[in-house]
Amino acid sequence: MTTLHINGKPTRIAADDDTPLLWALRDELQLTGTKFGCGMGLCGACTVHLDGQAVRSCITPVSAVAAKKVVTIEAVDRGRVAKAVQEAWRRLDVVQCGYCQSGQVMSAVALLAQNRKPTDADIDAAMNGNLCRCATYVRIRAAIHEAAR
Ligand code: FES
Repeated sequence: MTTLHINGKPTRIAADDDTPLLWALRDELQLTGTKFGCGMGLCGACTVHLDGQAVRSCITPVSAVAAKKVVTIEAVDRGRVAKAVQEAWRRLDVVQCGYCQSGQVMSAVALLAQNRKPTDADIDAAMNGNLCRCATYVRIRAAIHEAAR
């Protein structure tokens, strides 16, 4: 058993050290808002925060998480920045099929927590690697600008 700090509380998990964090979250803790897309760090569907940084949980082993704080989409709305992002997402009707959107929101929140006035180039750099098959990229960028106001 390992204890991780997940969504504000110490959480015991049985997954071994090599298990990707994604599967510990989804299979063991039923935190299924974090999605599986590619399993190779290429699509961003599995994005969570590790000490405030957006990381791909499908390629982050449990052993790399030990002393760090994990936040998933289920708890991200506790922060002011996250509330602004979620409101902008709703107002601009960003979501289409929705599958990638928890990862998109996690990356957007991590960006705005570090950069309150991102340029288009900042947004493109931060969101690069969060793929959306419905191509909602234009609305995502607009929503990030709106959340930054
Ligand atoms: Fe992790 Fe695609 S599932 S980046």
